[in-house]
Amino acid sequence: MWLANVVALCLLAVAITSADKQLLADRSASLAMNLYQNMAKEKGLENILISPVVVASSLGLVALGGKASTASQVKTVLSADKVKDEQLHAGLAELLTDVSNSTARNVTWKISNRLYGPSSVNFADAFVQTSKKHYNYEHSKINFRDKRSAVKSINEWASKSTDGKLPEVTKDVDKTDGAMIVNAMFFKPHWDQQFHHKMVDNRGFLVSRSYTVSVPMMHRTGIYGFHEDTKNSLYVLSMPLAHKMSSMIFIMPYHVEPLERLEKLLSRKQLDTWLSSLQEKAVAISLPKVSLEVSHNLQKHLGELGLTEAVDKTKADLSNISGKKDLYLSNVFHASAFEWDTEGNAVDTSIYGSDKMKNPKLFYADHPFIFLVKDNKTNSILFIGRLVRPKGDKMRDEL
Ligand SMILES: *[C@@H]1O[C@H](CO)[C@@H](O)[C@H](O)[C@H]1NC(C)=O
Ligand SMILES: *[C@@H]1O[C@H](CO)[C@@H](O)[C@H](O)[C@H]1NC(C)=O
Ligand SMILES: *[C@@H]1O[C@H](CO)[C@@H](O)[C@H](O)[C@H]1NC(C)=O
Ligand SMILES: *[C@@H]1O[C@H](CO)[C@@H](O)[C@H](O)[C@H]1NC(C)=O
Repeated sequence: MWLANVVALCLLAVAITSADKQLLADRSASLAMNLYQNMAKEKGLENILISPVVVASSLGLVALGGKASTASQVKTVLSADKVKDEQLHAGLAELLTDVSNSTARNVTWKISNRLYGPSSVNFADAFVQTSKKHYNYEHSKINFRDKRSAVKSINEWASKSTDGKLPEVTKDVDKTDGAMIVNAMFFKPHWDQQFHHKMVDNRGFLVSRSYTVSVPMMHRTGIYGFHEDTKNSLYVLSMPLAHKMSSMIFIMPYHVEPLERLEKLLSRKQLDTWLSSLQEKAVAISLPKVSLEVSHNLQKHLGELGLTEAVDKTKADLSNISGKKDLYLSNVFHASAFEWDTEGNAVDTSIYGSDKMKNPKLFYADHPFIFLVKDNKTNSILFIGRLVRPKGDKMRDEL
């Protein structure tokens, strides 16, 4: 009797969080689009790289540290107003644990999170414990009187926690009087079908019509979900990652052009339309084999998406963090290194020479494109970004 009750209770608990996880996965996908669109408006910004599920969990941290409307605004930004606090935290935690499980997914995804507070702050024990439990946050005080060494210590922490893949989060910190969130990540997709490490050569990547950089490119032909949107002159390609639990999706214009036109089209609805149009086809793929390191300060963007109180020194109530109303959210550094490499599962060679592989479509990614990493099960978006300018030397202008 007693055991049966416990089992029933456990099942109930699982059922509740799974439903919340699914809801929050859905909301984080909307957050992905809103945040991407908000950032794409920023002048002079080239590469974009954000992990919406990690941003959602940082928002969860703000909810945990906030009170009253500072906390409830988080739910509004996530369109999760009706979700209870406990379920919000449990759901976000479960979602991130699930989608970042390297063992289950065979991708490398290291995520380190820190909340920095000014040296005057005293972190409340309850907050330290719950934020560690749900969101895996560490806490640290930082003294900005010596700004250079403060910035250096943030960068050193990020570099160390990503095994050196992310050397720098920021060169400077503008507002030094508040609480600062730092996410430092390293992501490396493991392809469901690997590229041959010898099929790599140097090619030109057209940043614009008049500016080309030299990058290593990897090549492979296989059967992939592919769609040519002739009306909008663009290609959509879906490449499964190992264990097929997620896939990387590319949206690329036919020819080099600024990405504004595609970004105007990009919405959740349009993405679903594109994905439902994918057809299994032979595709000859060429991708830059590059490592992309991008760091964004999302503080302003989150404010523009409705998190107006937490980021406002005069309005913020983050008193669950310290027991006092002495903090506001001054910076949200969201930094990731994303490494495109050849590695993946062994290739199924049986299809070579078959009719299916004849006349492959070409997907030659030598100009700016949008990409996403999408979870197959929850439909959450693990990463969204654009590659506009890969690292590489300028190539000589051709006449
Ligand atoms: C990750 O996945 C493996 C294999 O599916 C599982 O055994 C493990 O419990 C998962 N880890 C977490 C933290 O959920
Ligand atoms: C998603 O998962 C299903 C079932 O596991 C699998 O059949 C399908 O190929 C996967 N889709 C992608 C795009 O990887
Ligand atoms: C935050 O403050 C509220 C109201 O005082 C309290 O009920 C809640 O337990 C606090 N949360 C944490 C994590 O300390
Ligand atoms: C991923 O799969 C490859 C083989 O396909 C294996 O060698 C590697 O250890 C796996 N990595 C993880 C993190 O599971």
